Amino acid sequence: MEALSQTATVPRSRREFMANMILGVGTTLGLGSLAFRFLEYLYPVVLPIKLVEIPAGNVNEIPPNGVRLVHLPEGPVMLEKTDNEVRALSAICTHLGCIIAWHPKAKEFICPCHGGRYDFNGNVVFGPPPRPLEKIQVKLRDGQVFVLMQSIKEEKV
Ligand code: FES
Repeated sequence: MEALSQTATVPRSRREFMANMILGVGTTLGLGSLAFRFLEYLYPVVLPIKLVEIPAGNVNEIPPNGVRLVHLPEGPVMLEKTDNEVRALSAICTHLGCIIAWHPKAKEFICPCHGGRYDFNGNVVFGPPPRPLEKIQVKLRDGQVFVLMQSIKEEKV
């Protein structure tokens, strides 16, 4: 009976105190880290994409009412020339990323991988692509075509 009362009144040792403190600090840091990651998931930091002007050739290299495929380091681009404007579309299929080709007789962009088809404006007309081709801004200066894209020199987000 006396032994029981002795253990109940023994003060905590320094070792036990340190073990509890390390356990408490570790648990707090672990739960804090989990909470931080969860908040990061709920509110992701989205950095703005900086577009730069990338030279894509001379405007005369695009056939009238036609299309020219340009392979830029930033990605393949379809340049289109109508009677009164020059436009650019990404040449990357929105299904699984194959490079599309312009078929002038059909007047369609056709993807060689799964047969996806797009019209001259980049809208899907057939096949598995889930959305239209990405439109790319164009600037003309002194007969040169510039497309506004994210530079490969910048870190892609
Ligand atoms: S990758 Fe173009 S249709 Fe599948």
